[in-house]
Amino acid sequence: MSPVEQFEQLLGRQEPLLALAPMQDVTDREFWRLMARHGGADVYYTEYFRVHPDSHLEKWILDSVIDNPTGRPVVAQMIGNDIPSLVRGARELQEHAVAAIDLNLGCPAPVVYRKCAGGGLLRDVPRIEGILGALREAVRVKFTVKTRLGFDDTETIDALVPLFVKHGVDLVTIHGRTVTQMYRAGVRYDLIGAARAALECPVLANGNIGSPFDAEAVVRETGVAGLMIGRGAIRNPWLFDQIRQHLRGGPVLQPSRDDLLAYVEELYDCVTLPGTRELDQVNRIKKHLGFFGPGLADAETFLHDMRRCTTRAGLREVCRRCF
Ligand SMILES: Cc1cc2nc3c(=O)[nH]c(=O)nc-3n(C[C@H](O)[C@H](O)[C@H](O)COP(=O)(O)O)c2cc1C
Repeated sequence: MSPVEQFEQLLGRQEPLLALAPMQDVTDREFWRLMARHGGADVYYTEYFRVHPDSHLEKWILDSVIDNPTGRPVVAQMIGNDIPSLVRGARELQEHAVAAIDLNLGCPAPVVYRKCAGGGLLRDVPRIEGILGALREAVRVKFTVKTRLGFDDTETIDALVPLFVKHGVDLVTIHGRTVTQMYRAGVRYDLIGAARAALECPVLANGNIGSPFDAEAVVRETGVAGLMIGRGAIRNPWLFDQIRQHLRGGPVLQPSRDDLLAYVEELYDCVTLPGTRELDQVNRIKKHLGFFGPGLADAETFLHDMRRCTTRAGLREVCRRCF
């Protein structure tokens, strides 16, 4: 079965599609492998490929596509605003086993949005329309979009929905916040639901889904075809299976404290680059551990102490004390 057929089959099921969110510097091939070992998502999004007139597909991201260890379909995400470059990027990516090409309309990093890419494009809807038209023509696999609600308003999504319909976008993921809200403020699931009702393609809801109960509530409120999960999966790799079990009405796996400690060891090995110094390794995993706060009894102490660690043994001690 081709990746596109695999993707279609997953979307055709009764149960919601569960996607691992694209996360720069996190969701590389080894992280995917780790997720898959613990149950895993149905679909995996790459970190974004930066696409501009001088760009080449980043090798380490392409490696995750070529040597996909998950057995599940992969969606390759691009960020950029130059139409000929995006068309070239899409063509090059389709030489590999991708189920879909995804356009990033949400990155809130100022260095990105000031160049009118990612979330910055939400201030220029006509430009988005040009990109959608060109990519629709160039993309023979599925063509998907991941967007926020707007740049600094929640109404831009209303202007985008008819464009997604007009240009035959195959799937839309909506992170229910504006760009300027970054990761603050509540997620507007009501607005995701309204967009879902107006769109003809499947929609994935995204933002703050951290438990099987959140997943059930979001599906019920929005009526979406699936969920995209990022940070919740970094701190709980069992989340995808827990959601499946909960939605089927069966018993839900409850990992023990030892399971969590063992997972942090695996995560450490996963983010360790060969030949790097221990301090660099420790600093690298701090990015991941920074998302472990929710769910801990004393998140503040954990984050404070974890950020001061300089050795693996020190990190281990902080985790043992705080988990
Ligand atoms: C460290 C990090 C890196 C991210 N990188 C990307 C990215 O490359 N592309 C993208 O579309 N979104 C990116 N995001 C946003 C996530 O895909 C997701 O939309 C966001 O984290 C909200 O979902 P969550 O609450 O389940 O984490 C990133 C988020 C984080 C925390």
